[in-house]
Amino acid sequence: MDEAPLAGEDGGISGLLAALRAAAEPSRLRIMALCAEGELTVSELIEVLGQSQPRVSRHLKVLAEAGLLERLREGSWVFYRLARRGRAAEVARSLLELTPAEDPMRELDTARLRAIFERRAQTAAEYFRRNASRWGELRALHADEGEVEAALLGLLPATVDHLLDIGTGTGRMLEVLGPHVGHAQGVDLSTEMLAVARDHLVRGGLANCDVRQADMYQLPYPDRSFDAVTMHQVLHFADRPANVIAEAARVLRPGGRLLIADLAPHAMEHLRDAHAHRRLGFDDAEVAGWFTAAGLVAGPVRHFAGKPLVIVIWSADRSPADLQRPAAPSHLSPQHAVG
Ligand SMILES: C[S@@+](CC[C@H](N)C(=O)[O-])C[C@H]1O[C@@H](n2cnc3c(N)ncnc32)[C@H](O)[C@@H]1O
Repeated sequence: MDEAPLAGEDGGISGLLAALRAAAEPSRLRIMALCAEGELTVSELIEVLGQSQPRVSRHLKVLAEAGLLERLREGSWVFYRLARRGRAAEVARSLLELTPAEDPMRELDTARLRAIFERRAQTAAEYFRRNASRWGELRALHADEGEVEAALLGLLPATVDHLLDIGTGTGRMLEVLGPHVGHAQGVDLSTEMLAVARDHLVRGGLANCDVRQADMYQLPYPDRSFDAVTMHQVLHFADRPANVIAEAARVLRPGGRLLIADLAPHAMEHLRDAHAHRRLGFDDAEVAGWFTAAGLVAGPVRHFAGKPLVIVIWSADRSPADLQRPAAPSHLSPQHAVG
């Protein structure tokens, strides 16, 4: 994943003027506002803006060169997001604050973007609906699951009264961790996955575990509800991973722990189409940045060599003294019914 240099790192007036000049065009301001809502591909931006590919690409080039946008290459896909570092990032944020949200064009863009998010969510949901019963086979692409599961268990805090497993799927994490905690609840968007999970819980005699339908972007729990939150092989389906992590942090008690197991960066492009992966893994620095943004303190990271995919466990704690609600990044969440 490469990031464009931030031209706006030039702290002087010339850097500021370059950033202002780059932003001083209606479509470019619209693009900046859209990229503040998530990491977007060129084709998604084309769809929202209704402009030709060369035109949108030219705008993106100007904005990225001025440091207002960051460009993330991942395999054959390129994502754009609002810059997060450097002086140009401050300029970008300030300009968006000054841009009226109730502008009709911006409202239309927001509605179109929401439709794109909605469609992506439906595509992923359809995939999970079709794959609910053979998800066990797909897990075989990864590193040794037993080793990863044992490590997750070892990383749980000593006493966990309430555990939440986000994207629980067929409930595997509940089976592994459930016997070691007071109560565990799994959430998933897919009712088919949840049906399989319920069956597994009954067969496993896990009376202290249950599942419910919920969207990871909008968990149906008050702040500070859980001692531990797990997310196993879920984050790479997220189009806004930072928002998912912020939402997980919100429901963690002060002193609670978030454990994420997912893939290290890889080049298996076909997983996007064949298995609805949105992201081809994550690097440690990127995840650490999301933890910090969500008000968490990053903990140990462990890598598990795979066949061929490498699994990583990232852990983070909510400070025991943290009684504030972590600041969630702005988001447009496709709203899903929660059971
Ligand atoms: C690859 S499966 C992993 C399941 C389980 N954690 C495991 O490791 O066996 C990813 C799960 O994330 C769920 N998921 C995807 N998007 C979601 C969302 N927005 N909210 C909740 N669950 C979601 C899917 O339905 C699917 O069950």
